[in-house]
Amino acid sequence: MNYENEIRRRRTFAIISHPDAGKTTLTEKFLLYGGAIQSAGSVKGKQGDRHATSDWMEIEKKRGISVTSSVLQFEYDGYCVNILDTPGHQDFSEDTYRTLMAADSAVMVIDAAKGIEPQTRKLFRVCALRGIPIFTFINKLDREARDPFDLLDELEKEFGIGTYPVNWPIGCGRDFRGVFDRQKRCVEVFDEFHRGRERLQAIECDLTDVEKMDGLIGPYARKNLTEQVELLDAASYEFDIEQVRKGKLSPVFFGSALNNFGVETFLQNFLKMSPSPLPHLSEGVEIDPVEEGFSAFVFKIQANMNKAHRDRIAFFRICSGKFERGREYRHVRSGKNVKLSQPQQMMAQEREVIDEAYAGDIIGVFDPGIYSIGDTVCEVGREIRYAGIPTFAPEHFAVVEQIDSMKRKQFAKGMEQIAEEGAIRIFLEPGMGMERVTVGVVGVLQFDVLEFRMESEYGVKYRRSDLPHTLIRYLPEGVDPTTLKLMQSTRRVTDLKGRNLLIFTADYEIRWAEEKNPGLSLIEFDQVT
Ligand code: G4P
Repeated sequence: MNYENEIRRRRTFAIISHPDAGKTTLTEKFLLYGGAIQSAGSVKGKQGDRHATSDWMEIEKKRGISVTSSVLQFEYDGYCVNILDTPGHQDFSEDTYRTLMAADSAVMVIDAAKGIEPQTRKLFRVCALRGIPIFTFINKLDREARDPFDLLDELEKEFGIGTYPVNWPIGCGRDFRGVFDRQKRCVEVFDEFHRGRERLQAIECDLTDVEKMDGLIGPYARKNLTEQVELLDAASYEFDIEQVRKGKLSPVFFGSALNNFGVETFLQNFLKMSPSPLPHLSEGVEIDPVEEGFSAFVFKIQANMNKAHRDRIAFFRICSGKFERGREYRHVRSGKNVKLSQPQQMMAQEREVIDEAYAGDIIGVFDPGIYSIGDTVCEVGREIRYAGIPTFAPEHFAVVEQIDSMKRKQFAKGMEQIAEEGAIRIFLEPGMGMERVTVGVVGVLQFDVLEFRMESEYGVKYRRSDLPHTLIRYLPEGVDPTTLKLMQSTRRVTDLKGRNLLIFTADYEIRWAEEKNPGLSLIEFDQVT
């Protein structure tokens, strides 16, 4: 098949980290090494002046964060690389999780002084659930850092995975001398005046060539490095690509994204070790990315990306074959044929209309309101149905009430449309309609986004009262919630399909409900689609 090479050379990964670990800086360095941008600092400017490429929503600019996940594509060494950026702020949303569903591997950026942080933990769990390969970049070695052996130990113990350091830091902070590539046996030597403006040159060296090594990094660092590398060679995990592919062994890279250390070593090794587009399951059957015709699923829907056009974009991850602009494809859920119009891709910082794309790529297409998260689009005549994207239970709740009865319609429309995108969930209160609803979100920032969007896109202001509730469960079908014994704080709601749910403030409240209502077995939110 003529597009086999195109597919095989694609690498689609998500980059994840706790805020401030250096994800944006590293992404920028990838683009710099890939030649997609000319100078560092163009993805993200100085403090207070961030230009992350996905900053298209005003709220993002105002708060200096990127609310949505963006996709960037660049070429490196014959590979076509798609980076799925996940929002890098304290908050969390379903969007972040869904982005991971569209990736074939993940790069986890860790601050060498801090080790594993709460967001890293959450994101890691989702990656582990999917069993995708996870690569680790331990960043900021130019600052005081924790002992590298300790950091590896923490990764292994906390995540239950093996680690394979591909390179090794030579000191840290004031004593940082660079990084040593264990396979190539070469060093990238630190030059404090360089500050990441140029690509680094790796210098080949032999650790036993004492004179040369001392000249490069000094006798003290040379001695330490030699000892540590000996220890590693003897005691660390063997490299096993099968284990990497299963997500059981994480190749680890040490470096300093800001100063370009470890960036090239990372790119070269990552591209070799990470998988080309993986097969996806359609009703239990694996769809081969190369053998099959075009197929893709929607993993994200975003409204009003361009305020001038009030558009709505559905993001597709292409799972197999080749996409051609202008051709008709089958939207499987509705059984209708569609033309994916205005297909676009993010090439570095530019949004471009494209004529073709291949398995592994992410395309955004104009959505006239027909797509839902998880929908499959494929060749006419096929009935591919990709496994649904898992839903995640909201963890924060608020009652949202319209205050202007003249705008009742806009309120209901705005809430429903934004809910359709999947960023929020709406629940109805007993005996109430859409004028007063309970909203559930995965990350609290979504409340701000909702308020901002309702006002700017639908011209509606509302009153919001936050609830102390954090847990939600479905009731089994046929159980009448009014007959249940519940604690006073437990709230009864229904979803838009009329199914009954309960919202709780804490675990003990759930236990109470199950104990006081013998035979009642509540259903986890994510078990219901
Ligand atoms: P994030 O996307 O994961 O949130 O992190 P980001 O890249 O924005 O980096 C957070 C801060 O850490 C930035 O500093 C960035 O310059 C710094 N940083 C990233 N990599 C390194 C590194 O290797 N060494 C050191 N020393 N610092 C690093 P900032 O002060 O918030 O922004 P800025 O003024 O530098 O732009």
